[in-house]
Amino acid sequence: MASKRGSWRTRFGFYLLAVGSACGLGNLWRFPYVVGENGGGAFVLLYVFMALAVGLPFLIAELCLGKATQQSVLMATQKLAQRSGCRAFVWAGRFSVLLSLVVFSYYAVISGWVLHFLIRFLVETFNFETAVASAGSLDLLMKNGFLQWALASVHVLLTIIVVAKGVQEGLEKWISYMMPLFLSLVLILVIRSTSLPSAPEVLRFLFYPDFSKLTFSSLIHAIGHIFFTLSVGFGTMVTFGSYMKDEDHVPTAGFRVTLVDTGISLVAVMLVFPIAFQSSNVPLTDPALLFETLPRFFTDFRGGAFFGLIFFVCLYMAALNASIGLMETIVSNLVDTRKKKLERDRASWIAGAVALSLAILPAFSSSLFRGVHLRGRGLMELMDSVLINWILPIIALGLSVSINLGMSEKEKEAHFVARDRFVSYSMYPHWIWALKWLAPGLIVIGMLLQVIGQF
Ligand code: ALA
Repeated sequence: MASKRGSWRTRFGFYLLAVGSACGLGNLWRFPYVVGENGGGAFVLLYVFMALAVGLPFLIAELCLGKATQQSVLMATQKLAQRSGCRAFVWAGRFSVLLSLVVFSYYAVISGWVLHFLIRFLVETFNFETAVASAGSLDLLMKNGFLQWALASVHVLLTIIVVAKGVQEGLEKWISYMMPLFLSLVLILVIRSTSLPSAPEVLRFLFYPDFSKLTFSSLIHAIGHIFFTLSVGFGTMVTFGSYMKDEDHVPTAGFRVTLVDTGISLVAVMLVFPIAFQSSNVPLTDPALLFETLPRFFTDFRGGAFFGLIFFVCLYMAALNASIGLMETIVSNLVDTRKKKLERDRASWIAGAVALSLAILPAFSSSLFRGVHLRGRGLMELMDSVLINWILPIIALGLSVSINLGMSEKEKEAHFVARDRFVSYSMYPHWIWALKWLAPGLIVIGMLLQVIGQF
């Protein structure tokens, strides 16, 4: 069965794509400002706990569903619905694909911001100009909705080209070159940023938990972000699970992806915050935090423009990777549900065109639509907040309930427990408990607290 769907040439290839899809702008762009919004250390601690208690069990469940059914989320949830007689499961699948599409639309706009800085640093590196890519560059972008949309279009186009080529040819090869380069560069930059004078204050802010800084919404913000960054609740991991080989062990894959992704998020805050603390006029809660801080950092030291160029090239590739994951979800579902009557590249163009039309809203949120705001949040921020803090947790919960009730105990156990991994026997009841009770309970509490916090 796996061969029909095109499984990974190597197991390493699967990890690269799953990690690549998980690690993207969520880690470097979104996590730092969410930590800023939620007051630092206590939130970081809460986040790590939620990654293990909620993100990991759900990630394993989605991979299991994909591997067991060899289908992407729409067909997989249809199977669950047929077996259990519960039609609602189909809706969990449908909403997850719809969510991928809407999230991809504003993700493309942020990816366009990355492209913008990439181009600025390219110009700066080769023209030997200085300070071109400073904060002024961000202002230029914010005022020009058309530029944002044009850059998003370039990004969507590139994503379509890669996805239309298909899993094997399109992805595995080049991802393997890029990820290690990016990680090494980020680590080098972290060493530099943590040697800034602000570092002790930052380390205290990030790792000394002051629980009084948490808000009513912090719990669901942590859960929403872990779903976003792990690509859980979008159906992406169901698609990736469907490409796994029989011998691949789902919990091990889930654990590694969660570990790497959480590690990268922690490294990202250690990169961004020392620079933000150094320049006192950057609000830590600003969604443009990454773009306010990093360009300044690069223009502050000799040769910084070149580092800036490499950083934004790598960040762009990470964004492209994650976008490929989202687009792949939409396309594989379109192809699977149309029983292969729809060509892969046609499906990619359709998904791209819809996403690009939706991207008009976030792209023009700081220009044409700047009058649209609620409680100080612009359209783009509102989209991000409503989708990730409200809708995503509900959809992820719906999917996990469908998997838990729709897959038999025997089936779940068969995909979780591996004969040669003794620890999987003892972990199985813990996973089931977390999937059934712990994670849903935390989501419900988080949602209720968030509702209370609105008054
Ligand atoms: N999981 C993707 C990211 O973190 C969407 O960027």
